[in-house]
Order: sequence, then structure tokens, then C-alpha cells
Amino acid sequence: MNHSLNRRNFLKSSGLATATIPAWFLEYRRSMAVTPPPLSANDRPALALIGCGGQGRGNASRAAKFADIVAVCDLDERRLTEALKSNPKAKKYTDFRLLLEKENIHGIINGTPDHWHTLINIAALKAGKDVYSEKPLTLTIDEGKRLVNVANQTKGILQTGSQQRSEERFHLACELVRNGRVGKLTDVLVNLPAGPRGGPFAKAAVPTELDWDVWQGQVASTDYVAEKCHGSFRYWWDYSGGTLTDWGAHHNDIALWGMGLDRSGPVTIEAKPRVEMIPGGYTAFSEYEVHYEYANGVKQVTQSVAENGPDGREFKKADPGKFLHGVKFTGTDGWIFVTRGRIEASQPEMLTTPLPTQAQRLYASSNHMGNFIDCMRSRRPPICDAEIGHRSVSVCHLGVIALRLKRKLQWDPVAEKFKEDNEANAMLSRTMRKPYNYNYFA
Ligand SMILES: NC(=O)c1ccc[n+]([C@@H]2O[C@H](COP(=O)([O-])OP(=O)(O)OC[C@H]3O[C@@H](n4cnc5c(N)ncnc54)[C@H](O)[C@@H]3O)[C@@H](O)[C@H]2O)c1
Repeated sequence: MNHSLNRRNFLKSSGLATATIPAWFLEYRRSMAVTPPPLSANDRPALALIGCGGQGRGNASRAAKFADIVAVCDLDERRLTEALKSNPKAKKYTDFRLLLEKENIHGIINGTPDHWHTLINIAALKAGKDVYSEKPLTLTIDEGKRLVNVANQTKGILQTGSQQRSEERFHLACELVRNGRVGKLTDVLVNLPAGPRGGPFAKAAVPTELDWDVWQGQVASTDYVAEKCHGSFRYWWDYSGGTLTDWGAHHNDIALWGMGLDRSGPVTIEAKPRVEMIPGGYTAFSEYEVHYEYANGVKQVTQSVAENGPDGREFKKADPGKFLHGVKFTGTDGWIFVTRGRIEASQPEMLTTPLPTQAQRLYASSNHMGNFIDCMRSRRPPICDAEIGHRSVSVCHLGVIALRLKRKLQWDPVAEKFKEDNEANAMLSRTMRKPYNYNYFA
């Protein structure tokens, strides 16, 4: 596993050419009219926010440009109070099932922690609601397969909250790569922020405002530990997969989009943790590298980059303002690197030369939430539909499984199963705590 070579090459070759978004591409996006118009007062869908943490509330405020937030739901009274401050007309709920019964609610925004996404999304789709669900879309690959089936059966609109798809630099990078601007694509490097390696953590009294039992949902019940709950749930394997699923749901999504494999997946996965976990601490790997191969021969490395570790220091020295994370596509003719607010290429002309008129064009959206609302009305698929969200997080889940098994795995992206590997296949799903199951709410 030659990850250090990848890192060195990445450093050596980055920063050769920095570019803002070229005018030709901005003009093209304007011509695509990718920004949905605000709707008239009696044409605005009614949405419910389920899960009122920072991201849920942020999504609700972004949606308020196009829709009315008529209900807010959380298991923590403090979070509900916060959500009501910015949505004073919304009705408050602590049980999402009750709001799903309301016919005058057209869709939901799911801002709950990752282990709750799927059961709520399936229940909402079956109740006839459209869904904007936060990423990572699922906790397991089995959840994703079932969710995709339900979305197809119900014909509900589901937008996955991997909003980088609606940002122009990611669109540009993927469209250039798909049209051969780097030559024949050979390697994809995905850098993700390393996670915290904290612990051990002490149990504490459950806050009186919080329903800890329901918060845990399908996951086996344990004592309350503050570091397991709001915000930091993502660093526990029980509830999520660390930064590999958290940030991976963004950057692995872009990697698949650029490769044109966003309804497929890799054929081999091999991974190793770079540091051990602390007993009694977080249970998702904090620093790791995952090596993927695709059937077309493209190799992908997804690795954590620690700001305070050797990788991070090197990056910061090379360019103090540089994002540590992002996606680099390398081919026979050069490379393109993209991250939030930044796009670079080995030769500036790779970005500044317009694509020909017959170029392959990708789905264009300039407002991720706006695209969801637009699709609620048009009933066309959104830019990051259920299958795309499921396939992107599958790459992350496959990495987590390989990290746990510490051996090379063979994956069949059509059957969505490991090849002749019962041990790995058993990790595609998890046992849900009673009474939770896929049909419990629906
Ligand atoms: N797209 C992005 O860039 C982005 C950024 C941050 C977070 N996220 C995602 O958004 C989600 C929420 O993240 P956060 O940081 O706001 O988390 P958080 O823990 O701060 O908030 C989640 C809220 O959901 C509530 N909740 C849990 N179970 C519930 C249930 N069954 N019914 C109703 N409410 C319930 C919790 O009480 C909490 O208030 C996560 O999936 C995260 O990955 C996405």
C-alpha cells in the first residue's frame, strides 16, 4: 500500500496552477438556468424539519426561500426551542410519525443523526412525502438497497444532502474529467479530514430535555455519554462511520461523479487504520487509508489527512490557506484538483479552454435545496437521488468494512455483494434493537 507516494505526488504537483471558475463555464451554467425561481405564496410546498441540530436548522433556513416550514420535530426540547425561534409558525412535534400523518405536509427535511436516516426516510416515502435527507444517506449498504427500492416503488423524490454536486467547481471538475481533459483517467485521490481520537469518556446523567432511549433508535441501548450524542455521534461506529462516511459522503460522491460510476462501485477494497483507537473512546477509525480499484482499471485512494499530523503540517507549509481535503483526478495528460472554493489543474488551459458543444454534459444545479423543491414540482429526479446517495455512501461503508476486517475484499457492484465472503457479507446489515425494523414505522 503505497499511500506515502500518493501523498508526496499530491504535494509535489499541487499549486502549479490556481484558477477561479472560468467565464465560459459560468456562462454555460447561466444558459442552463440551473437556479430555480422562488415560488409564489400559494405555490410553496409545506415541509417538516425532523432533527433540529445545526444542519437541520440550516437546511430549514435554506428551504424557507422556496417552501414553508410548517412543522419541526426533535427529541430534545432545547433543540425544538431553537428551531421554533427561526420558524415561529411551525407546529412542534417530538414523534415524527404524527407529522407524517398530516396530509398538508408535502415533504420532510431529515436532519437526524445517521443511524436514524433510513427508517425515517422509508416511513416518509411510504406516507407519500418527498424527502431531503442529510448525508451519509444510510448506516449500512442493506439500508441503502431497501431505501432505493422504496423510492422507486413510491415514486417519491429523494434528494441526498451531498450538496457539493450543486457547487460549480465540482460540476466543472467532473464535467472536464468525464470529457477526457486529464487524458485517460488512471488515479483518484480523495483526502478527507482525520477524525478525533478521543476518550475514554465517562457516562453521565441523561439531560432532562432529551429522550435518550428514542435517540438511540435501532442501536443497542447504552448508558448516556455526552460525546456519543449531539454532533459527535459520527465518531462512533454504532451510529456512523467516522469521517470516512461523514466527509466521504461528500468527496467520494464527487469521485464517483467524475468517474461516471455513480450508479456503480469499486471491485476491490483494501484498507488499514493508521492509528489505533483509545479503549473507551470513539469507535470509528480516526486515521485511515482505503485503496479501491474499479473495473475500468482506475485506482482510488481515500485517506484521512490530519491537520496536526505529518500530512497536515506538510500541506499547511506548502500553502497555509489550502484545504486539507478534496478530490484529485489524475490521468495520462495531467490532473485536476477540486475542493470547496478552489479548483486547480496541472496546466491552466485545462480549465480555461471551453468544452466543445458536443461535450458530455452533467446534471446542472446551482442550489441543492432549490433543486429538491424544483423536483418536488416537476417530479424529475433530483441531482443526488436515492441511488446516487446510496452508491456514494456505499463506497464509504465498503471502506469501513475493509478497515474492520483488515484484508482485501472483492465486491460485485451489480449484485451489491462481496464475492464468496460470508464474513464480509454479514457486515452489509446490522441487527436492529427491538422493536425497530424496516417496517416498524411504515
Ligand atoms: N451536508 C452537510 O454538509 C452536512 C453538514 C453537517 C451535518 N450533516 C449531516 O446532518 C445530520 C445532522 O447533523 P448535526 O450536526 O446537525 O447533528 P446533531 O446531532 O447536532 O443534530 C441532530 C438532531 O436530531 C435529533 N434527533 C435524533 N433522533 C431523532 C428522531 N428520531 N426524531 C427527531 N429528532 C431526532 C437530535 O436530538 C438532534 O437535535 C447528520 O447526518 C450529518 O452527517 C451534513
